[in-house]
Amino acid sequence: MTGIICALPEELKEIQQAMEPDGQLIFSGIDFYLGKLGGKEVVCAVCGVGKVFAAICAQTMILKFHPDEILNVGVAGSLSAGLNIADIVIARQLVQHDMDVTALGEPRGKILGSDIQYIPTTESIRDGLFSAIMMLNGEKAFGGSEIRAMQGTIASGDQFISSKGQKQLIAEEFEALACEMEGAAIAQVCFVNKMPFCVLRAISDSADSSAHMDYPHFVALAASNTAKVIKCYMTQI
Ligand code: ADE
Repeated sequence: MTGIICALPEELKEIQQAMEPDGQLIFSGIDFYLGKLGGKEVVCAVCGVGKVFAAICAQTMILKFHPDEILNVGVAGSLSAGLNIADIVIARQLVQHDMDVTALGEPRGKILGSDIQYIPTTESIRDGLFSAIMMLNGEKAFGGSEIRAMQGTIASGDQFISSKGQKQLIAEEFEALACEMEGAAIAQVCFVNKMPFCVLRAISDSADSSAHMDYPHFVALAASNTAKVIKCYMTQI
């Protein structure tokens, strides 16, 4: 079974519409939707915004549903000039940009009490997501728009990034391609539970001074691109 976690209803909408539903259960105040996608068993949830909601959801999903893998799917702000609206980022690794014990001589993002700063995603899932994108682009070879995708670091924190300064700081410190608010928390929960996982995001804004204006316009378009990739991925696994 594949677990899919989105922060917002808009991010799950098209995935849920494509599901054959098979019930709904509530744990930890979160609705978990069971069913099939591409003929495979899935459990989906909307966790809410931020690292705490995301961690609650991931841990509850693991304990109650025992999925084989977890995918965190949604939108993100771009930290790279090479990433435009609706482009996809497959996370190779996640870091919490707001985890800060630098006063104790540790690098920013380091999770104290562990050796972890960057949490790697599961290679086989990354490869599966990438080949789903290749397949979608192949189908579009004679028309339609190509899905552009990059793989790299995603930085998460409990902040909506909407200034050039904040954006530059995170991009430079962590060499991150995109920023969002849940992925690294889900990564940490999966890491602790030895749960295979990956994070797939599409760009909804440029994380600078226009981010708060771009985001409401492009969130649905970006979410639609991730839904296409997930639907294709589920038919391939
Ligand atoms: N999710 C989408 N855009 C974002 C941004 N600019 N900052 C944080 N999370 C986001």
